[in-house]
Amino acid sequence: MSDDAPGSNHDKHAPSAGAAHADDPGRRRFLKIATCALGGGMGAVVAVPAVRYLLFPMGRKVVLSGGEPIDVCALDQLVVGAPPVRVPVIARSVRDAWSTVTDVPLGAAWLRRTADDKVEALSSICPHLGCAVALDAAGQAFQCPCHDSSFKIDGARESGPAERGLDPLAVEVVDGRVRVTWVQYRQGGTDREPV
Ligand code: FES
Repeated sequence: MSDDAPGSNHDKHAPSAGAAHADDPGRRRFLKIATCALGGGMGAVVAVPAVRYLLFPMGRKVVLSGGEPIDVCALDQLVVGAPPVRVPVIARSVRDAWSTVTDVPLGAAWLRRTADDKVEALSSICPHLGCAVALDAAGQAFQCPCHDSSFKIDGARESGPAERGLDPLAVEVVDGRVRVTWVQYRQGGTDREPV
């Protein structure tokens, strides 16, 4: 005897519970959103590190030697009480964005040995508008050729449009070598602001 007899509760043409769920518009919408969200999330998981890898180190400036003491000369080259000596300050390695450059000239310093174990360093950049200052003929003062600012031998401002003295640089003596930490300051003004 057939189960499909008239009056049976198992009518084969009636939609099953599963088919009813599949046709439910709310359920279909939910599944669609969930699928998109899952796909988007997985895409972000893969894409974010990839983009960061590709862009690194864009926007970053990493100076390996510029903010650290740089060897500029032997202590023996400086004589106590003698006029200052001008030395170039050269970074051994500077990394900027994707490139690494070696032996980068950062500027120049005037070194003055004031005692056996003491050296003072001044930036050669005029704090007015950035020209390079020079030692005067007597070796007892600094003169800027651009607008005639002048500075004492210790860097103090003497005259002219420069509003402050020459910028001092940190200096140290290690194993008979003189090392200078280069800092470039903003031009103009009485305050020293590193740039
Ligand atoms: S740049 Fe030195 S006085 Fe102007």
